[in-house]
Amino acid sequence: MSLAPHLATPLHLGKVEIANRVFLAPMSGVTDEPFRARAVTHGAGLVVSEMVASGELAKGRRNSALRIRRPDVPVHVVQLAGREAGWMAEGARIAAGEGADVIDINMGCPARKVTGGYCGSALMRDPDHALSLIEAVVAAVPVPVTVKMRLGWNHDSLNAPDIARRAEAAGVAMVTVHGRTRCQLYNGRADWAAIRRIKEVVSIPVVANGDVESLADAVEMLSQSGADAVMVGRGHYGAPWLAGAIAAQAAGRPAIGAPTSSKEFFSYIVDHYEDMLTLYGIEQGLRHARKHLGWFVDRHAPHSPAELRRAAMTSTAPKDVIEVLRMIFSAENMRSAA
Ligand SMILES: Cc1cc2nc3c(=O)[nH]c(=O)nc-3n(C[C@H](O)[C@H](O)[C@H](O)COP(=O)(O)O)c2cc1C
Repeated sequence: MSLAPHLATPLHLGKVEIANRVFLAPMSGVTDEPFRARAVTHGAGLVVSEMVASGELAKGRRNSALRIRRPDVPVHVVQLAGREAGWMAEGARIAAGEGADVIDINMGCPARKVTGGYCGSALMRDPDHALSLIEAVVAAVPVPVTVKMRLGWNHDSLNAPDIARRAEAAGVAMVTVHGRTRCQLYNGRADWAAIRRIKEVVSIPVVANGDVESLADAVEMLSQSGADAVMVGRGHYGAPWLAGAIAAQAAGRPAIGAPTSSKEFFSYIVDHYEDMLTLYGIEQGLRHARKHLGWFVDRHAPHSPAELRRAAMTSTAPKDVIEVLRMIFSAENMRSAA
């Protein structure tokens, strides 16, 4: 059987129904509320919040509150990072109270800021401690709890199968595995076949992640890993529709809402830009939006003049930025949508 149609079928976590098996990966600084709402509109099966530090959340920090707010999505997943069982449990309770349908635990982030604080992928170096966090979160909330991890800390310690098995026994409903070790950071290629070792030892759904950019990649990843679903991250830069487009293609349906003409690109990007300004306010919104504008330009209007790109990145008045975008996304600067 071809694996493509399988990607278009629903997946259940207890009472939570996930519409299809192509997910948007959590990306701090990228997959905020406007981005996730868009991805869902385009048909992504599941979206996950940027990671939220459980301690910060429990202390009521504004940025954490924004990260857990429920956007207009059918399934709201909040990802928590942390190293103290008490904070993780409290963070999970707060997120569930704000409407989270699923709590995801971050055990994959390689950033030194995170691993130095002994969270993210550093938890994989101490499985007993990781399990104590998982147990605390599972006990704290009535909603399904999931875990996102890497293959292990390094190639001498590929302990994801062991941790996944113990996580399942502790009540975790699904695990996502990025097919790299912590020490690989984002180098080399994700090892899709290695994810099979996790799939073989658990009966909960396994989501495979790393280096997927197309339906062909997603199908190949399922075939090599035996996973139940795929999660796509960086391929979404400048293309919030990617997961939805892959799911639609898998179902043999046209993509939903991805822009195609220069005019559609312009209004799509301006809408996204304005949503970000509304969420963060002008000053912070301008800063957050820059990387998205850069990705949109580089991906879809790569031949636009450098001074226009620079102006879009540096102008501090939203109306000027929009005028520059109008010039950039004129027919002559565009190539077909990626
Ligand atoms: C900018 C950026 C931010 C990320 N933030 C998170 C995060 O908050 N939580 C998390 O679990 N993973 C995070 N990741 C990892 C991604 O979810 C994903 O595992 C990784 O990018 C590999 O998938 P990809 O090759 O499809 O991008 C981040 C990755 C990037 C590039």
